[in-house]
Amino acid sequence: MNNISSFSHLINQERLESKKQICNMKNGNTYTSNYLRDRECFETSYVDDFTIKWLDMMPEDYRLIRKTYLDWFFRLGLRLGDFKDKIVLDGGCGVGSVSEMIVNLASQIVGVELSNSINLIAKNLANHKNFLPIQASIENLPLRDKSFDIVFSHGVVHHTSNPRKSMSELWRVVKPGGKLIVWVYPDNDFMRRRSLLTYFLSDESTDNKKGFSELLSKWLHFSAQDYDTGRSIIARDLCCSLKTDPINTSMYNIDSLCPTFHHVLQESFFRELGFEDIESSFYTNEFKVKGQQMDLTVTLNKKAN
Ligand SMILES: C[S@@+](CC[C@H](N)C(=O)[O-])C[C@H]1O[C@@H](n2cnc3c(N)ncnc32)[C@H](O)[C@@H]1O
Repeated sequence: MNNISSFSHLINQERLESKKQICNMKNGNTYTSNYLRDRECFETSYVDDFTIKWLDMMPEDYRLIRKTYLDWFFRLGLRLGDFKDKIVLDGGCGVGSVSEMIVNLASQIVGVELSNSINLIAKNLANHKNFLPIQASIENLPLRDKSFDIVFSHGVVHHTSNPRKSMSELWRVVKPGGKLIVWVYPDNDFMRRRSLLTYFLSDESTDNKKGFSELLSKWLHFSAQDYDTGRSIIARDLCCSLKTDPINTSMYNIDSLCPTFHHVLQESFFRELGFEDIESSFYTNEFKVKGQQMDLTVTLNKKAN
C-alpha cells in the first residue's frame, strides 16, 4: 500500500479507514486490493450501475477498449506536461483511466471513487506509490481545504445526487491559483430526452439495466457494415450511445441511460454558484446531432492569494 503519511497534507485522516479486499477476477484468479475508505460514505447503492459496468461488463483486457482522454485534454488546451509535478485530484475516477495517463508526471494523485470499482483502480495503479485510491463521495470529500493544484472530474458531477454540493466540495479543495475542470452533460433537447428515459428506468434493478443495455447494443450492432448512418439515426432517436464495438456500446449505455441521477447542466448553473473565471468548451461527438453540443467542459480558475 502507498505510504499514507506522504499524503497526510491532503487527506482528513481521522475520517479514513484502511481496507484490504481479496477480489475475484473473471479468469478465476484473485488479487488483493488496498485502499482507504471514508467512514462517512454510507449511501453507495446508486453507484451500483457503475460497479456493474466496471467490474462485470468491462473485459479483462480493458486497456484495449478503454477510452483514452488525450482528445479531451487537447480540446481543453491542456498538455500532459501541464500535470508535471502537480498535486492532482481525480474526482469519480471510475477505473482510473485519466489518472493512469498522468501518473508518471504528477507529483501525487488522489483518486476518489464511490463505487466498488475502487478495488480495480487500486489494483491497476498499485505500483504507483504517488497514487492514493479512496472510496468516498465527491459530495463530501475527506480531503483538506485548498490542497490540490488541479482537480478534475470527468463525467461524474451530473451523475451525483447533488451537483451543487459536488461542485462546492471539488472547489473547496483547489489551491489558490489552481484549477477545477469538470466535464458534464449539457442542457439541450437530446440530453433532456435522455434524462427522461433514465427516469423511467430508474426503478429497474441493476441486472435489468445491464440486460437492457446489452440488448440495445446487440440490436444496434446487428446490421450490415454500410448501415452506419441508419444505425446512428436509431441510436440518436433512442438517445443512447453508439460506439465502434458492441462491448463499448453496452458499457456506455449504462452511463447514458441507466444511472439514477442524470442531470443536465449549462454554463449558467456554474455562474449561479458564484463562479466567475469560467472557460467553457463544447464538443459535438460522433452522433453529430445537428446543432446540439454533446458535452460541456468547464474550467474554473481559482484566484491566487
Ligand atoms: C461516467 S463514469 C466516469 C469515470 C471516469 N471519470 C472516466 O472518465 O473514465 C462516472 C463515475 O463516477 C462515479 N461516481 C458517481 N457518483 C459519485 C460520487 N458522488 N462520488 C464519487 N464518484 C462517483 C461512478 O461510480 C462512476 O465510476
